[in-house]
Amino acid sequence: MDAMADSSTSAAPSPNPNANRSTTPVSNAFREYIATQWADRVEPTPAPRQAAAFAAARRQRISAMHPGERLIVPAGPARVRSNDTDYPYRAHSAFAHLTGWGADAVPESVLVLEPTGTGHEATLYFRPTAGRDSDEFYANAAIGEFWTGPRPSLAHVAADLDLPTKPLDALEDVLEATDATTRIVRDADRELTDQVDGRRLLNAELPADAAESIDTDPDAVLLRDLSELRLVKDEWEIAQLRAAVAATKQGFDDVVADRPAIIAHPRGERLVEGTFNRRARAEGNQVGYDTIAASGPHACILHWTRNDGPVVPGDLILLDAGIELDSLYTADITRTLPINGAYSEVQRRVYEAVREAADAAFAIVRPGIRFREIHAEAMKVIAAKTAEWGFLPVGAAESLDPEAQYHRRYMVHGTSHHLGLDVHDCAQARRELYLEGILEPGMVFTIEPGLYFQPDDLTVPEEYRGIGVRIEDNILVTATGAENLSIGIPRTADEVEAWLAGA
Ligand code: GLY
Ligand code: MN
Ligand code: MN
Repeated sequence: MDAMADSSTSAAPSPNPNANRSTTPVSNAFREYIATQWADRVEPTPAPRQAAAFAAARRQRISAMHPGERLIVPAGPARVRSNDTDYPYRAHSAFAHLTGWGADAVPESVLVLEPTGTGHEATLYFRPTAGRDSDEFYANAAIGEFWTGPRPSLAHVAADLDLPTKPLDALEDVLEATDATTRIVRDADRELTDQVDGRRLLNAELPADAAESIDTDPDAVLLRDLSELRLVKDEWEIAQLRAAVAATKQGFDDVVADRPAIIAHPRGERLVEGTFNRRARAEGNQVGYDTIAASGPHACILHWTRNDGPVVPGDLILLDAGIELDSLYTADITRTLPINGAYSEVQRRVYEAVREAADAAFAIVRPGIRFREIHAEAMKVIAAKTAEWGFLPVGAAESLDPEAQYHRRYMVHGTSHHLGLDVHDCAQARRELYLEGILEPGMVFTIEPGLYFQPDDLTVPEEYRGIGVRIEDNILVTATGAENLSIGIPRTADEVEAWLAGA
């Protein structure tokens, strides 16, 4: 199925990149015929979606942090995969957070918070449904209704998100007004950012010392603040994350049930990925990140997403996968399973060591501790175990010295990251609020220690080589401690074996 460009009749139509392939009729007879005899659209006005009130509260908070500034938060355009074929669309997470618009967001939409005397007035600009009096609906493969489906009306979205809306064309007025007080989330929409930069230069009438009075990179400050705004999840977000974990559990169950086919196929890892991703598409929007289906020694490759190897009985299969819901919130869960149903002695030893590290880290989680203490706690166990097994050139205590860290040879990654709209959520938050940050109720993050013995690692006995284990859970900080949201997915060695046995 080929794409066709807009056969616009404007005075100077832009060159049609598909002119060599386009079969769109240009006859007046066709154009007149296709423009007529369409039934009127009946579009009932929806009640505001649940997320709308939460998004409004988030906008209030960012408004209070940026008084007097014009804040532009684009959803971003569709990204080209090749020529006129795009990747599946996903709005920028900051946009989704502040609007409540998830997988159904219209590409290239823009949220603008215009400063008022007391705060900000929010307006959502987007390209509404096109009338049959334009040729967009049949001739524009990128956005035309016959190609990508109908878009909602301005009134529909205004009611749905409980947010004033304007057509995307009207964004020109915002660009006209752009000045030194305008901030934009830069990485969401490069083209719009370039326009804002140009207008900012053109329109800025700064006093000589103005550069001293504003941050040197105010856009980065906005991005940072939007990232930090997400460190503590509200009630609606926590419910979404619970639902994402529940859907992900179904995906893990599917993989367990599919083991005979997985073992039988020469690219069994692909079947693991396919089975999980099938559930992700059915129950959610997609996967929150590329599924890692790593069997045997592939488990020692932390981001193994090629997934083209066999799944061999006797090996472990490490499955790191998460379902992203239509709201765009995602889970991020890892289990490492003995594909033939039972861990070997050495596999079990490694697995239970990792579980001990995870349990030790979880045990200290409560409001008031520092985020980085979770990792430190897990590392005590990883150092103790690898020292006990004789893999380290020094004892555990000495290895834990920041100047030593021999045990990290077997786990080079961190133990925890925040989780939410992005799998690595809040990534632009300041170190003092992230790694050095104090835990608060409502924070959600992973605990994911692992042990990875590379197939060619001469520091470990041969029986350990090629074993990679990670256990990853999604943790909610509560008022008094913590809740493991993914505890329902079997995680001790005994539980996993019972799961595989069909218990
Ligand atoms: N799935 C990527 C991670 O665990 O961080
Ligand atoms: Mn993770
Ligand atoms: Mn993961």
